[in-house]
Amino acid sequence: MILVTGGAGYIGSHCVIQLLEQGNDVVVFDSLEVGHIETIETLQNSFKQNFKGFVKGNLQNFEEINQVFKQYKIDAVVHFAAFSQVGESVENPQKYYFNNVYGSLNLFRAMLENSVKKIVFSSTAATYGEPVYTPIDEGHPQNPINPYGSSKLMIEKILDDYDKAYGLKSVRLRYFNVAGADSKSRIGEWHEPETHLIPNILKSTFSGGQTFKMFGTDYDTVDGTCVRDYINVEDLINAHLLALKYLNNGGETNYFNLGTTDGNSVKQVFTACEKVTQKQIPVDVQGRRAGDPATLVADNKKAKSVLNWTPEKTLEESVKTAYEWESVLQNRLNN
Ligand code: UFG
Repeated sequence: MILVTGGAGYIGSHCVIQLLEQGNDVVVFDSLEVGHIETIETLQNSFKQNFKGFVKGNLQNFEEINQVFKQYKIDAVVHFAAFSQVGESVENPQKYYFNNVYGSLNLFRAMLENSVKKIVFSSTAATYGEPVYTPIDEGHPQNPINPYGSSKLMIEKILDDYDKAYGLKSVRLRYFNVAGADSKSRIGEWHEPETHLIPNILKSTFSGGQTFKMFGTDYDTVDGTCVRDYINVEDLINAHLLALKYLNNGGETNYFNLGTTDGNSVKQVFTACEKVTQKQIPVDVQGRRAGDPATLVADNKKAKSVLNWTPEKTLEESVKTAYEWESVLQNRLNN
């Protein structure tokens, strides 16, 4: 049985679906502060047999998470539960350190007390901070520039120490920009408020949507807008399943970048959205958003060679599934 923390959220729920589709038993723990009960209901209804339970709880309460390990026979954990908004983390670091770091400490304590020694952890490119060189490989210095990135880096360091002292084996996956949705549109990205590029462009094409705001056109990049590495969410989750396999085969604690190595500018993403939606989308060009580095692109050789991972989906495919999901979501919200 696999425990997925944060399984009601955007990336966590895609992991739950893939685990279930591959025949694993899954239990989800989520506070529903960011995740949605509707997502859990979709997962439960689609996979009645292997979806073994949903526990609404908060990692900041040790007893709530410890109880899950007492109730279910957990073999490994995939840990997504976290707050992830960079801007909010600067304004309210306490929220991030308590939830992300203290919550993870409680999870690891419950794992150790119940002799569960394998974890795949959702980390981020934000642990690298302002890039010193590009593409970014795993040897790039980790100097986060906001509390969100710092909270994730602290957890990475805790996991190193817990391996040395207690034999807790971890794989830390450092995500670049995650994009797209379930190819059957059962679930997808659903943040309130939404801050990410692709859903914001797409939302603006629906009635009542706000005009898309483009932040900054004077960066030192191909067309003046920020360049990011958009990795499809299903490709990304595939790496989590390979990471679990790696740990099950006795793999040592390790860490990998998850990206495509392909950079796309905000304008290029915008063009892809116009192509997929077949709409001319109005733009409101604004100044730079604080804290955005010009370029963030992954070197993914390590994940390819050690985990045997190959991202397959193009940016356009991600935009297409994101658009299909956004239509489902808009329908749901407006009815
Ligand atoms: N952008 C816009 N308009 C919007 C939203 C975004 O122009 O409405 C621009 C941003 O300014 C940026 C690019 O689109 O240049 C990408 O922005 P996102 O917010 O989609 O993604 P980020 O690169 O800021 O953040 C992502 C993850 C974070 C993670 C970070 C790592 O969402 O969780 O990468 O640096 F911390």
